[in-house]
Amino acid sequence: MKKYFYPLVENPYRPKDINEAIKVLKSSKITSGPKTLEFQSKFSKKIKTNYSLLVNSGSSANLLAIQCLINPYRKRRLKHGDQILIPSLCWSTSLWPIIQSGLKPKFVDVEKETLNLDLNDLRKKISKNTKGIMLVHVLGNSTNMNDLMNIIKKHNLILIEDTCESLGTTYKNKYLGTFGEFSSFSFYSSHQISSGEGGMICCKNEEDFEIIKSLRAHGWSRGLKYEKKIAKNNKQLDKRFIFYNSGFNLRSTDISASIGLSQFKDLDKFIKVRRANRNLIIKSFQKKKINNFFNIIKENKYVKPSWFGIPILISKSLKRNKIINNLEKKGVETRPIISGNFLKQPSIKKYKLNKNVKMKNAEYINQKGFFIGLPTKPLGKATIEKLATTFEQSI
Ligand SMILES: Cc1ncc(COP(=O)(O)O)c(C=O)c1O
Repeated sequence: MKKYFYPLVENPYRPKDINEAIKVLKSSKITSGPKTLEFQSKFSKKIKTNYSLLVNSGSSANLLAIQCLINPYRKRRLKHGDQILIPSLCWSTSLWPIIQSGLKPKFVDVEKETLNLDLNDLRKKISKNTKGIMLVHVLGNSTNMNDLMNIIKKHNLILIEDTCESLGTTYKNKYLGTFGEFSSFSFYSSHQISSGEGGMICCKNEEDFEIIKSLRAHGWSRGLKYEKKIAKNNKQLDKRFIFYNSGFNLRSTDISASIGLSQFKDLDKFIKVRRANRNLIIKSFQKKKINNFFNIIKENKYVKPSWFGIPILISKSLKRNKIINNLEKKGVETRPIISGNFLKQPSIKKYKLNKNVKMKNAEYINQKGFFIGLPTKPLGKATIEKLATTFEQSI
């Protein structure tokens, strides 16, 4: 394995997180149980959402949200071929559940300044076939949520917020992930909090909550609000084994829940340390006068960010490959901003989803952007100085 002095992620698990997991292991109740319920309830309380459900990944949360929209138990349900708008700067599993569920994605460009959805392009892309938006909050930043919510209301659209990269960010003091009918969060090991693998899906109303609960676990009636009523209507069946809906198994474990919860309790602390580290790095770039070559993306107006990493756009005169190679060689780990312009991925070509679509800004970000990590432990002076010097020497 390559040794980086500035990696994307350092081991995020603290002894106290591991101890929580050991307690669960010793209890021998390892599957989804009391820790999962506790995590869900604390999560809802803190971010102020009505319902939260723990799943095994952020991808599973996205899948459940989209599957819920086409589920026959849902009153307002989408039909085959209905259109969902999605930014072209997205993650693979922000997109694929749309296609896997028989819906049609339509791509929207993003802004270079914020990396988030370009609302002017969004307005142009809305048609009578558009039924919803899969919004992706990129790396802890956000689009203008006021304007977006006005568009949503005006066109009666369903909003799903992929908040997998932005747990803890607020827009006008309201947490991202609480604007739409659904939102997803990821606790994969590089995210704001980590539970190994893990994710949360949140929703606003009880009808959806009951559907996603059954979809999460085999379509089972077990644990649903109307479990008894369902059993009464199906007297010919063993009431403990009634399959009321279609389903998956996307549950997590109490081991994962205990680590996630332990980290979640310190979310505000992590955000604060990351913010302080980022400010020190910005200052060191300014001091070296390299800030014109490396534009560190700033938060949008009204956004109080919970940064995921440090997204950077290099100046037009620089070549991304050269910079990346130099940084990597000298011990700074880098990666694309999400996955770059997703329309450039071979899977898109295979599924013939890129017919005549050009995304100017997403393409620019693809060619000029990358991000570096942002640790949750305070950075020392020497590391910050070494980082700035490495950037200076990479030009
Ligand atoms: C925007 C976005 N959505 C979804 C996911 C998927 O999350 P997970 O890795 O937990 O499946 C990621 C992963 O990093 C992501 O960045």
